[in-house]
Amino acid sequence: MKVNGTPYRSLWWDEAKSALQIIDQRWLPYDFRIEQLSTLEDYCEAIRGMHVRGAPLIGATAAYGMALAARIDPSEATLAKAWDALHNTRPTAINLRWALDRCRTALKNTSLSERADVALRLAHEIADEDVEINRRIGLHGLEIIKQIAAQKPAGEPVRLLTHCNAGWIATVDWGTATSPMYQAHDAGLPIHVWVDETRPRNQGALTAWELGSHGIPHSYITDNAGGHLMQHGLVDMVIVGTDRTTRSGDVCNKIGTYLKALAAKDNGVPFYVALPSPTIDWSVSDGVAEIPIEERAGEEVCQIQGSLADGSIGRVQVTPEGTPVGNPAFDVTPSRLLTGLITERGVCDASAEGLAGLFPERAACASGR
Ligand code: MRU
Repeated sequence: MKVNGTPYRSLWWDEAKSALQIIDQRWLPYDFRIEQLSTLEDYCEAIRGMHVRGAPLIGATAAYGMALAARIDPSEATLAKAWDALHNTRPTAINLRWALDRCRTALKNTSLSERADVALRLAHEIADEDVEINRRIGLHGLEIIKQIAAQKPAGEPVRLLTHCNAGWIATVDWGTATSPMYQAHDAGLPIHVWVDETRPRNQGALTAWELGSHGIPHSYITDNAGGHLMQHGLVDMVIVGTDRTTRSGDVCNKIGTYLKALAAKDNGVPFYVALPSPTIDWSVSDGVAEIPIEERAGEEVCQIQGSLADGSIGRVQVTPEGTPVGNPAFDVTPSRLLTGLITERGVCDASAEGLAGLFPERAACASGR
């Protein structure tokens, strides 16, 4: 997507420097900074410290991390260490393990002398695939938006609500939840997006930045406003992303997603999850019982980052010094609260049968474990 008129992906390979370039998201939406990743520790810190974030982008970044490791030393021992180091950066997004396993498997079947080239080609492939998956999710989501638009008076915008940032900068391009929004807007279908702030890290500000850059009408709202808006008929559809979805359709996503799904159910508002297949964890069935929830640093809650009056980027404390804090970063929305899953292969029920219908080859492997 474009930033100030220039097309970007959220990461790209610089051939001349032989290094990965990323958009360092810690400074968005106030400052657009590009960072070069040159060492394995750069890659680990970029994922751990959320310079890159969002499940698909974490996976693609890790693939380039494995490519770097293979270039430095293609031995099994080094690749195993790189796998561990990258895997230990963040626990929730299953795309991380998916990408790392895909690289490890491919490299095991490759001679030592060819590993560096094969690993880099694979990282490019994973990044390109992510773009295509998200484009397709957008097209399937667009069909749902069109159906909703057809029920409304001509020209009235379809009002969507989203939580966190499942936008192009959380992926390589297009985004997951935002892809149907971009497709709808580009097709001339009027939409308006309610953007949840998404405390504690306010990823909603990233979504607002993205939508604003693309000219999509939107309003930034506090996390507590969604239920009220739904109760008053001001939301036609919710679309969120996911960091890990079980084979039975339970969705782990940014903290607060579950509350939005409860409010949507109570108000008869369709609630969809944009789900790229690498985000499905086929090894897990009951999301609430089986997915460990990442507990993040207390400062994320006690402090807020923003643009200060002098133009610098800074943090302010919002609680009394020393206040004890709880900060679960994700929650699980049970499949029964969801209207459907929008995948690259189409839309399905949030259920084991629904996912198995679209991905029979994966479901068969999972049941044969
Ligand atoms: O903690 P983050 O910012 O990496 O988490 C990202 C999310 O939770 C998003 O909501 C998103 O839906 C999943 S990635 C497309």
